Amino acid sequence: MAFPDGFAWGTATAAHQVEGGNSANDIWFLEHLPRTIFREPSGDAVDHYRLFRDDIALLARLGFTAYRFSVEWARIEPEPGVWDAAATQHYREMLEACHEHGLVPIVTYHHFSSPLWLLAEGGWEAASTVDRFARFCTYVTEQLGDLIGVACTLNEPNLAWLLAEFGIAERDAAARVNQPMWVDAGAALGLAPHEVAPFQFCATEAAYQVKLAAHRAGRDSIKAVRPDLQVGWTLANSDIQWVPGGEDRAASAREAVNVRFLLDTRGDDFVGIQTYGRTVFDAAGLAPVPAGASVNTMGEEIYPRAIGSTVREAAEIAQVPVWVTENGLTTDDDTQRLAYFREAVTAVEECLADGIDVRGYVAWSALDNFEWIFGYGPKFGIIAVDRPIQERTVKPSGEWLGRVATSNGSIRP
Ligand code: BGC
Repeated sequence: MAFPDGFAWGTATAAHQVEGGNSANDIWFLEHLPRTIFREPSGDAVDHYRLFRDDIALLARLGFTAYRFSVEWARIEPEPGVWDAAATQHYREMLEACHEHGLVPIVTYHHFSSPLWLLAEGGWEAASTVDRFARFCTYVTEQLGDLIGVACTLNEPNLAWLLAEFGIAERDAAARVNQPMWVDAGAALGLAPHEVAPFQFCATEAAYQVKLAAHRAGRDSIKAVRPDLQVGWTLANSDIQWVPGGEDRAASAREAVNVRFLLDTRGDDFVGIQTYGRTVFDAAGLAPVPAGASVNTMGEEIYPRAIGSTVREAAEIAQVPVWVTENGLTTDDDTQRLAYFREAVTAVEECLADGIDVRGYVAWSALDNFEWIFGYGPKFGIIAVDRPIQERTVKPSGEWLGRVATSNGSIRP
């Protein structure tokens, strides 16, 4: 059987997308600007801050063996160097709940959202962020490290470069001057628009340098407290392909989005790979979705086998063990999600059969949640949430993946 003993099966969330009330971070700030590009504010999200015990118990009951979640920096360090004991205790209780239910806690230290004070200091283009993040990593590991199973420093430091291929993030800070949300943000913070640098949106050289240095300093800080803890970052790697005429564009995108960050990963304990589909280039740029292909709720082609290619690419270039830390589909038709998981799990199994060291498969997402600028429209969850009453309903794909987890991949009903 391809899945080795101890292979982890999990689902993932991120604090800002599920907790609710994250009013001290930069995303909340962006959500509420007059000319925000966020479709709606995150508000109460799915109230996971309060309901985490039930949610964790439910995931365990379904059969999962791991849970990936993030700690919210703005809650833990509401002002620079000021630590919030109650927030720290909250995450301790989450970790304890995971252990109680036999779930390996995979903790992301930074999943897109940062304290608003960090944004005001220049965010992810300011060199000072490197030490700020390292200090946060030290504190979290000192306080919680004894209970953390696997540590992820930064979530998707390369996402901005993938978004830049779609024209959603800027490669040049000066371009922010023409964008109303950055103008509003700058005005509110007393910065020029080009000085506003949140994590997801800046595909600049300065952001690359800061993220890489922050990852390395964060990793070293975690290791200094707990040398045995496995530490890595998690990358947004699309399966980048081309049709005739698109070779050069595909090669340069692959270099900027995937290859550069995988080379930077060498020397880490592992790399987390997060793949949703493929990105195809033709002579004119991004190729249209092939005629007749099924699409997700965002109009993108459903292409579950992408994860096999990106895991192989990661193992070959980064030369470290691989975790699938996110993989999933936004759809209102759960039969499509189940079929997606089935094919994706098979693609991972084939990687293992070929000798690639894959440590676990973590689906995105445990719960339908706040999909950043797209608000609550897209639904990636294996558990549906009726938000006005915060009621959870497990989808068939969740039951299915839980059964696969229970049998360590041998039963795929
Ligand atoms: C992120 C998640 C996000 C998911 C689906 C990844 O880019 O880590 O926060 O919800 O993809 O778009």
